[in-house]
Amino acid sequence: MTIKEIIKKFPSEKNLKTQTRPYFNHSIEFKKNFNAEERAEMLEKAGLNVFFFPSVGITGCDFLSDSGTTTMTNEQWAALHQGDESYGSNRGYFILMQKIREIFGEQFFNEPSIEKPNAFIFHQGRAAENALFRTIGQLSKNQTIPSNGHFDTTQANIEANQIKAINLFSSELKDPNSTSQFKGNMNTEKLKKLIQESKEKIPLIYLTITNNTGGGQPVSLKNIKEVSEIAHKNNIPFFLDACRFAENSWFIKNYEEGQKNKSIKEIIKETFSYADGFTISFKKDGLANMGGGLFIKNTGLFMKKYPQIPDELMNYQILTEGHPTYGGLSGRDIMTLCVGLETITKEEYLDHRIKQVQDFGKSLQEKEIPILTPVGGHAIYLDVNKFFQGTKMKPEDFGGIGLTAVLLATYGHRACELGNFAFGSYNPKTKEEKFPEVNFVRFAVPRLRYEKKDLDSVAESLKELYEKRHLIPPIEVIYGKELSLRHFKARFKFKK
Ligand SMILES: Cc1ncc(COP(=O)(O)O)c(C=O)c1O
Repeated sequence: MTIKEIIKKFPSEKNLKTQTRPYFNHSIEFKKNFNAEERAEMLEKAGLNVFFFPSVGITGCDFLSDSGTTTMTNEQWAALHQGDESYGSNRGYFILMQKIREIFGEQFFNEPSIEKPNAFIFHQGRAAENALFRTIGQLSKNQTIPSNGHFDTTQANIEANQIKAINLFSSELKDPNSTSQFKGNMNTEKLKKLIQESKEKIPLIYLTITNNTGGGQPVSLKNIKEVSEIAHKNNIPFFLDACRFAENSWFIKNYEEGQKNKSIKEIIKETFSYADGFTISFKKDGLANMGGGLFIKNTGLFMKKYPQIPDELMNYQILTEGHPTYGGLSGRDIMTLCVGLETITKEEYLDHRIKQVQDFGKSLQEKEIPILTPVGGHAIYLDVNKFFQGTKMKPEDFGGIGLTAVLLATYGHRACELGNFAFGSYNPKTKEEKFPEVNFVRFAVPRLRYEKKDLDSVAESLKELYEKRHLIPPIEVIYGKELSLRHFKARFKFKK
């Protein structure tokens, strides 16, 4: 009997309950050995603000962000050595041009020496966003940009340019009984109403894929197409905040009716065929530690409506970042990004990536810890209101901040409050807090960094905290409650 005949007698490797990872460790780093008391001391020094907690003290998992925290592949490390640090038109720039064209569409990257510039590289996503909103802000006064959920710094950049930012979350996002797989969708009824009331004030419509502020939930291709059609019918350009474009495409392929036979690359192409432009932070689905960009479709409505903007963008980019052929990036960063963009669209990578986050969610659900479901692609969102149900914790006690502080000091895991404190605001005149629609603690899972054991341990830690949640005291804000983007800057202490 041959070996080929023998293997047919055993169940296929694909049917095993536990699958191996599609990669192995290339290089590892040992953690430092801090105990709970030492971490508590460090956290006290940081005013209980986890952003100021030294990362060397994190003995568990760091879920502060999935942005720029990816473990690079050996191919990316090799590409780093091929970085060309020439001041103009470095080698990587042309490779990036090819990659962007290949993945998102030919029309998003003109050859700048021949055609009008339409591709702008920046050092990270928010720099690209600021460039875009700055030029749009100069068009007229009292403008509004609607979105399915603006990211916090996106919203801040819009508002810093005197434009109003509006979130049109889907009704499913707030419905605990909804089983929709695409809770990140934009509420198109609300969009139509907004357009009816103030069409002239909307310079563009923005859709974030996946919807990070809206629980990291994906957006369906149907919704992307519908928003694009509504926008174009009303002569309004349509943009994507495309930070997690590959993860969003995975959800479309796996959960949206009629999409499973398409490849990830086909879905990405279709998604971007509906858009007139996009901003992106390559620190997420660029699989890179650095980078951002703004890409405008050369035949799209934005380019037609605002033909002067590309030149203004280029001037601004030269003033603040560098020559357009390197933007704010070193040649080696560009090289790692080119390789990262290829890896991120591979189905075996995405299958593993999203299933890891989903399995993490499942283990929390099994322990009855309240999280937003279905789980999105890059993070688990713990529902703070439900977590503290049955305790004396009030919204103005910022339970999410207390929870992240106790979790970090006791078990060494760092998560991030994205709820009543981060998205809320304080009015010094009325002395009142205004709370947002959503109140989460986010556990953003860095790409290719942790193993199942790490995440199982986090689930166990959270279970301990959940059972003793009444022991987590209310928080007092001792600095910064009136500031914008206050979660990055504030300091706290526990009330007695
Ligand atoms: C949806 C979304 N948009 C924009 C940004 C900003 O990107 P960057 O951190 O590179 O400035 C982020 C970052 O997390 C994000 O999640």
